Amino acid sequence: MVDKNHQIVVQVENLKTYFFLHEGTAKAVDGVSFDLYRGRTLGVIGESGCGKSVTSQSIMRLVQTPPGKIVEGNIWLYQYDEQNQFKGKVDVVPLKTDSKELRKIRWKEIAMIFQEPMTSLSPVHTVYDQINEAMMLHIPGITKEETRTRTVELLRRVGIPQPNKMVDAYSYQLSGGMRQRAMIAMALSCNPNLLIADEPTTALDVTVESQILELIRELQAEYNMSIMYISHDLAVVAEMSDDIMVMYLGQAVEKASTGEIFDNPLHPYTQALWESIPTIDGKLDKLEAIKGTIPSPYFKHVGCRFFERCQKRIEGRCDVAPPELLEVSPGHFVRCVLYE
Ligand SMILES: Nc1ncnc2c1ncn2[C@@H]1O[C@H](COP(=O)(O)OP(=O)(O)O)[C@@H](O)[C@H]1O
Ligand SMILES: [Mg+2]
Repeated sequence: MVDKNHQIVVQVENLKTYFFLHEGTAKAVDGVSFDLYRGRTLGVIGESGCGKSVTSQSIMRLVQTPPGKIVEGNIWLYQYDEQNQFKGKVDVVPLKTDSKELRKIRWKEIAMIFQEPMTSLSPVHTVYDQINEAMMLHIPGITKEETRTRTVELLRRVGIPQPNKMVDAYSYQLSGGMRQRAMIAMALSCNPNLLIADEPTTALDVTVESQILELIRELQAEYNMSIMYISHDLAVVAEMSDDIMVMYLGQAVEKASTGEIFDNPLHPYTQALWESIPTIDGKLDKLEAIKGTIPSPYFKHVGCRFFERCQKRIEGRCDVAPPELLEVSPGHFVRCVLYE
């Protein structure tokens, strides 16, 4: 469990990110709070469309604006001096997207890897060009020779064969797994405090996936990074995370340490997710097993957002007022009237 010795790297408070569209307002993230700690991984799980990516894009300030906008909340970036003493914190929410302050934070303090590296690696630049650009921007005084040496070292570290040669390759010349390794090398190039991984292995086959997961875990231990690991795959989240946040329709419905939430899932949605884990080693799309579909993001909920699909709903109670996220035992939070 998290204790006072764990250093906070990023603290998200009551984050609300909405999309304003002709069809209505999609409350993609609607009041989410969580802390990210040095050397620990927070796993974020939930069905497609529940706001996982928008949460991470909000932290990186990559939300497409318009139609998206952070309408409320704070994203505090904690800062420490060389002796690891708390120095202060900066809220990234008010920063302008093209500001110098934000450019200093993005990639240097917080880096991100995505599902499809092709969309984040430029097709017209070599691996070296791209990593060089990030380093030149963020590491004061670094020379071209140094960025080249460091890039080759990084490529070797992430398991790219013949790094001396591959450093000059274009991303389309790499396989999916190698592209993801190059993306990870780029994310690590400025030694970030927080690495956000948004379904980074979803497009890979199972063997390559387990290699990438192992690599990320090794690098975390080496760099003592905080990781926010997003996935719709329970097995992956369980393997990667110290703590887990379960999201449903833009909100956290349960948060606890990985051990606690697997031993003692409380929210009916979490229980349904857990029950749909196959016992044998099959890789199914596990979340499909839950009855009903996610309501439209434009739907205005009066009560609990999971009401329509909940096996344990209480008519006249769950549909009249939204439940609060409450701490029911130390470090275990759940949003459900059954525990109020
Ligand atoms: N660029 C966008 N334009 C309009 N709506 C968006 C956009 N991106 C996300 N959304 C809305 O936010 C919701 C959450 O999306 P997302 O965070 O990508 O879900 P997840 O990553 O959990 O699958 C979507 O259901 C959609 O309504
Ligand atoms: Mg997503």
